[in-house]
Amino acid sequence: MGGGGEKETIRKYIQDLREKIHYHNYRYYVLNEPEISDAEYDRHFQELEELERTYPDLITADSPTQRVGAKPLEEFGTYEHSIPMLSLNSVTAEEEVRDFDDRVRRMLGGEEIEYVVEPKIDGLAMELIYEDGSFVVGSTRGDGYTGEDITQNLKTIKTIPLRIFAVEGVNAPLSLLEVRGEVFMPLSRFKELNKELGEKGEKMFANPRNAAAGSVRQLDPRVTASRPLDFFAYGVGRTEGKEFSTQWEVLDYLRRIGFKVNPLIRRFETIEKVITYHKEVEEKRDDLDYEIDGVVVKVNSIAQQNTLGTISRSPRWALAYKFPAQEEFTVVNDILVQVGRTGALTPVAVLEPVQIAGVTVSRATLHNEDELRKKDVRIGDTVVVERAGDVIPEVVSVIKSKRTGVEQEFRMPEICPVCGADVLKEGPIVRCIGISCSAQLKERIKHFASLRALNIEGLGEKLIEQLVDRKLVSDAADLFFLTKHDLLKLERMGEKLAQNILDAIEKSKETTFARLLHALGIRHVGEHTASLLADNFNDMDELRNARYEDLIRVPEIGPEVAKSILLFFEQESTKELLAKLERAGVRYEKKAREVEEGVERILAGKTFVFTGRISMPREDAKRMVERLGGKVASSVSKKTDYVVAGEEAGSKLEQAKKLGVKIIDEAEFKEMVKEA
Ligand code: IVH
Repeated sequence: MGGGGEKETIRKYIQDLREKIHYHNYRYYVLNEPEISDAEYDRHFQELEELERTYPDLITADSPTQRVGAKPLEEFGTYEHSIPMLSLNSVTAEEEVRDFDDRVRRMLGGEEIEYVVEPKIDGLAMELIYEDGSFVVGSTRGDGYTGEDITQNLKTIKTIPLRIFAVEGVNAPLSLLEVRGEVFMPLSRFKELNKELGEKGEKMFANPRNAAAGSVRQLDPRVTASRPLDFFAYGVGRTEGKEFSTQWEVLDYLRRIGFKVNPLIRRFETIEKVITYHKEVEEKRDDLDYEIDGVVVKVNSIAQQNTLGTISRSPRWALAYKFPAQEEFTVVNDILVQVGRTGALTPVAVLEPVQIAGVTVSRATLHNEDELRKKDVRIGDTVVVERAGDVIPEVVSVIKSKRTGVEQEFRMPEICPVCGADVLKEGPIVRCIGISCSAQLKERIKHFASLRALNIEGLGEKLIEQLVDRKLVSDAADLFFLTKHDLLKLERMGEKLAQNILDAIEKSKETTFARLLHALGIRHVGEHTASLLADNFNDMDELRNARYEDLIRVPEIGPEVAKSILLFFEQESTKELLAKLERAGVRYEKKAREVEEGVERILAGKTFVFTGRISMPREDAKRMVERLGGKVASSVSKKTDYVVAGEEAGSKLEQAKKLGVKIIDEAEFKEMVKEA
């Protein structure tokens, strides 16, 4: 190409194209009001990608193509906030809110006051730093002073602008702007994500906040990018080139330069109006697609904020006015004992039904005998019951002042309430040791058929209970020998339903090794461990014949799990069950590495950890190790055989030195695999 002038024209053209994309990104993700079609947007985006391929020296970090550019990290760096990120005092009672108002007015000597009320988003506080309009660093709140540098993850969030541009009268971007706000996962997207994870047999998240936290702290930004995260801005830290006089002005500015600012934010002159608005927001709470746990009340004037100042890490000018906890009073009508899959006896409170946040609750777990004693729950007691998100309701405490003397203490049974076998106390847990306990059998079969095990659709709790009670099945494998005739004996069972169930049972015979292992319900082998085992052993025979040393060599498998696996395979009942499953035609795909013809598995039993920069892609190195029979782990432990240290190797190298693990460089590694 010709002189610098031409290059300059191209640079300018690319810059305009980026601006256009930033703008349409903002219309689409922040405002939800796209001006152009998706196809048109994609065309602009592709054109930019092509230009950047041709002129890689013109790529900038704030280009819209760079949202997920970065490579996985080994660990996050730390980031020191130049102005501490404070926390808030929180209250739930109206009176406490009035006290706050009194204090503020007293300290301001009767000046007029305005309050800004914002929903309190239940997510994670973040700080985003913009220099001359470009996003340069993003970090977590951490302890308020030092957080983690998670820039590359925050870049993947579409509502976080990579570049600030002029909109509605705001001209040149500030030389420095620190934006603060909350990363969260929309409720609808959280449910979708959990469904997906469940279907893939991966661990689900307990609530949207945990999901957001887990997603934003991924070392691989591609994982974060695949998670539906969002961001609301609610404040600023340092700024250069602009002074704000009110919080309202800050929010307005943030909105105009392209951030998503919560639409429910309001301004009021009296605390009574704040209290009324808090109630209004609480009523709207269930209609929102994100979780909030209250509102934040802030004194609007920044001069007044400064007068009020900060005390013990919380500002005197702001307050978290939370919604009341999701709990209610009710009476314990009875205490029952449930027998779980592993024989554990769990005391359960049967409650006088009560509505908690729109849901009827009639049972609550008491966990175990020790918990029950500690809380001293008795039949007839008035108790506080809490429902937290998707979690099983729980008895929080007993209102002892309500006791009349007729309440009855509960004793855990000394034999299994279902099968009458003896019980054994293991720590806080009482366990039925009966080998043919029908309660355990029901739970084992429920687990076997469940979504994340063999996933037998339509075979629900009620059906399984009937099958066991009528002695149509005496272990999980018996499911595969059920006939239509058997099923038709059950309550509310018709031809069509029976056929559907048989079809579902048939379909479940094609499964994966990991799912089958999980379905067997080996103690201490949950979904994750099952998939580890499936990655490390080719099939059931290999696992069944594994010795303690073979099991313990698998990263993440410790003595307790290894012993439990050995014990499981020693049982006569296990041998029968496995033989029966095989006869039934249960097949699984061998996901584990197939043994390749002609390749000598010289690395069999060896575990490698890679650290630092090496010249070949990590994936290739990993594949090479696995092809030769070895394993690759992500962290260094005593079980690691070799640490391959590349350039700038960090904490893993230190760890290897400490544990005396053999350290080799890339050349030595290549030498090692070359022989094969
Ligand atoms: S202001 C000094 N505004 O609540 C002001 N915080 O304990 C500090 N939060 O860590 C924060 N929504 O994670 C503020 N509109 C909002 C908020 C909000 C949620 C969270 C934030 C912070 C915690 C305060």
